[in-house]
Amino acid sequence: MIKNTEFQRDLISALSQAQKHISPKYFYDAKGSALFDQICDLPEYYPTRTELSILEKHAPEIAAHIGSNAELIELGAGSLTKVRYLLREMKSPISFLPMDISGEHLNAAVAELKREYPALDVQPIVADYTKDWLLPKLSPQAKRRIAFFPGSTIGNFSPVEAQAFFANCVQHLPSGALLLGVDLLKEPRVIHQAYNDAQGVTAAFNLNLLTRANDEANADFKLDQFSHWAFYNAPLKRIEMHLVSLKKQEITIADQSFVMDEGETLHTENSHKFSIDGIQQLAASQGLQAGPVWTDAQKWFGLLWFNIPA
Ligand SMILES: C[S@@+](CC[C@H](N)C(=O)[O-])C[C@H]1O[C@@H](n2cnc3c(N)ncnc32)[C@H](O)[C@@H]1O
Repeated sequence: MIKNTEFQRDLISALSQAQKHISPKYFYDAKGSALFDQICDLPEYYPTRTELSILEKHAPEIAAHIGSNAELIELGAGSLTKVRYLLREMKSPISFLPMDISGEHLNAAVAELKREYPALDVQPIVADYTKDWLLPKLSPQAKRRIAFFPGSTIGNFSPVEAQAFFANCVQHLPSGALLLGVDLLKEPRVIHQAYNDAQGVTAAFNLNLLTRANDEANADFKLDQFSHWAFYNAPLKRIEMHLVSLKKQEITIADQSFVMDEGETLHTENSHKFSIDGIQQLAASQGLQAGPVWTDAQKWFGLLWFNIPA
């Protein structure tokens, strides 16, 4: 049964290319989001605990930058763990708008947040942030709109897509600001291990894309004929995640057949790593003005503030 025609269309287009490539947004159904939460707890996956340590230390200062009576949007909000550090410190927040493509997971996380913050106006938005942002009008009580984009999810974009994301911020957050979490350049071995954990959770997360394709897009991938492959591409400063075909095989999607050779891959994710200067320049190309940077002692991860012109 086809439940997701966009996914089916993108899969057909992916499998028609010489280097097969599909958006990482398709990792995230309820199971994919739960697997991502497990990744965040892995000893090898330094980004989450490092970003949390920065928030733990600097949330009061960050909240002072956000200011009183702000409306906070979180993009790719996931389980809403990190935003709690900000909400605890923010002075009279007007509303919180978490946006995520993984609707079931987001709604469950919002229900839990609302129990903790009964007085906060929380408006979940189940949407794809690579498309038009359909945001409600800024509430008259709110002084300005601030976006929070943690997890270095910006690293999933190509540089051109990242520019489009920054352009969206400029369009939707006039006189506002962006608080952006970025995974910084470091020793490749550390990065490599983060995407090749010993328990195989990242492999299960990667393979979940094929389970979804079978469930939602009328595909017939045989999961035991694919394996997880992640490596650091140093010249392009990114982790690449692929699913490798373990033998020559035919895959059918709806009524179309495709052949994958042994060793051929479906490229499922890029996770770019950044220098602080590099990401600030990319943001500046769309008019964002770099502000303070909060980082950890090892400079493994950064939380970067950008002001957005009126
Ligand atoms: C790497 S996880 C980060 C989750 C959380 N913000 C954190 O920092 O731990 C990426 C999140 O973005 C969401 N996401 C991925 N692609 C998306 C898209 N195109 N539109 C909206 N949400 C998306 C996923 O569902 C997931 O919750």
